[in-house]
Amino acid sequence: MSQRTVDRRGADLFADEGRDGFLMRAFMRGAGFSSEHVRRRPVIGICTSWSELNPCNADLRRLSEAVKRGVLAAGGLPLEFPTISLAEPFVRPTTLYLRNLMAMDVEEMISASPIDAVVLLGGCDKTVPAQLMGSISAGKPAIMLTAGPRPTARRQGRPLTIDDIWPLADQRRQGRLDDDEWADLEARLNCGVGTCNVLGTAITMAMVAETLGMALPGSSLPPSGGAQRAALAEATGARAVELAGEGVVPADHVTPETLENAFRLVCAVSGSTNAVIHLEALAGRVGRRLGVEAMREWSATTPVLADVRPAGRHLLEDLQDAGGVPAVLAELAPLVYLGARSGTGRPWAEVTRTVSRSPGPALRTLDDPVFPAGGLALLRGSLAPRGAVLKRSAAHPALWRHRGRAVVFDGLADLNARIDDPALDVDRDSVLVLRGVGPVGGPGMPEVGELPIPRKLLDQGVHDMVRISDARMSGTGGGTVVLHVAPEAAAGGPLGLVRDGDLIELDAEQGRLDLLVDAAELAARAPATPPEHPARGYAALFRRHVLQSDEGCDFDFLRAAAESGTR
Ligand code: FES
Repeated sequence: MSQRTVDRRGADLFADEGRDGFLMRAFMRGAGFSSEHVRRRPVIGICTSWSELNPCNADLRRLSEAVKRGVLAAGGLPLEFPTISLAEPFVRPTTLYLRNLMAMDVEEMISASPIDAVVLLGGCDKTVPAQLMGSISAGKPAIMLTAGPRPTARRQGRPLTIDDIWPLADQRRQGRLDDDEWADLEARLNCGVGTCNVLGTAITMAMVAETLGMALPGSSLPPSGGAQRAALAEATGARAVELAGEGVVPADHVTPETLENAFRLVCAVSGSTNAVIHLEALAGRVGRRLGVEAMREWSATTPVLADVRPAGRHLLEDLQDAGGVPAVLAELAPLVYLGARSGTGRPWAEVTRTVSRSPGPALRTLDDPVFPAGGLALLRGSLAPRGAVLKRSAAHPALWRHRGRAVVFDGLADLNARIDDPALDVDRDSVLVLRGVGPVGGPGMPEVGELPIPRKLLDQGVHDMVRISDARMSGTGGGTVVLHVAPEAAAGGPLGLVRDGDLIELDAEQGRLDLLVDAAELAARAPATPPEHPARGYAALFRRHVLQSDEGCDFDFLRAAAESGTR
């Protein structure tokens, strides 16, 4: 299954009696490691995305020390190395633009280094899929530990989580939050290190890694900075030493069954829409696809069980109290493959049998779900021939079926210039369309799909409208927001043909997204002009090789050849 053959183990290289081993030990001696210490121990790389440019991952330095304790106690030799780190708030144009570069960095460092297994330390949104993608392609045993969520802040006697920023930002636009209140909010919003403290992309992907068996059971939700996470780090280090001797590689964790498990888990917790893209990218690394039709069927048969922010009402710590991923999988037992391997190496069936779980308001049961099924709507139609995504569980039910006139924005500059213009021809039934912000057009699909409600409608009390784009949305966002329209406008998709006033029909129940303009009229319209081809560097590589969202936005040359008989 692994795509590379490791001809000599790291431990053997350090024990080599020839010149190579001598030199390796001599260089380690220079760093203060005795020959006895480095000989014949399984070498465990610790691939860290710690960076001061990434506050979400700030706890990884402490966790790395705890991983080392676990590795040493289990008889291994821990050696830490850095890679690129991607912080959502800081990286321009978008972190997805650099996800594949980070995945290449991870893959090549794991492949090139004398290590027998690796612990992946990730956290902020794209660092997790990048590490998973890179380690799958590198083909050495790997286990992940994520940074964990930030503690929940409080404001005016109530919990304050990162998703609160969207309605508060609207209040600020309306002049209902003054400078002092805005500054107070800035000081309070993040009261510690760690990833976003709702079921956004980072936590969703941490739960995906756990479900795939690439992280220890129960490791996604304990908060960053705490004792529980440090103990998990020790256990992860010890598990990496075991993995070095087991020969199980990450690709073995990415099967049709585990991909379905992971997708159903995302549906059951109402996780981030970004997970759809990352799951396709992971599948592509082993020559598989999930595919719109399969995801549509899985979503239609998976109830939403977690009532957790941003789509729900409760906090991540409430979901952790209810038992976290093992409890969700236990509840989903009739729908998932519990024979799949967990991060301990034992099947999920064993883990879920012994999990302490307490269904309650944050985690409901199959008999009493938050939402019956179809929380994540996979759409197709004349406006999205290769698919689009709507988080139905976070959309206003009155808009699940909607027909309205398009109001079109060509890119972010156009949107920002006109959205609050009092003269904008828009009403509450309009459909806002943003294009030119897909994988190629963005580039990198910025998280701008949750278009702001035009100020004049906001002032009338409108808080949700149908919005459609080839962009993504922050996992902390919500609303009737249709995302990932494929093909994107810049790749010749019909989104590029829409004009102001065209009728668009969304039917989330039937999974349809249609442009109600006849074919002859569309054929007469000029397609969108693609952006100029960059002349050099990563921008040129990205433009030439990035795939559309339905293929995970990976680079075409990084995917494995399709496996026969797979989706
Ligand atoms: Fe880093 Fe949300 S911005 S996890």
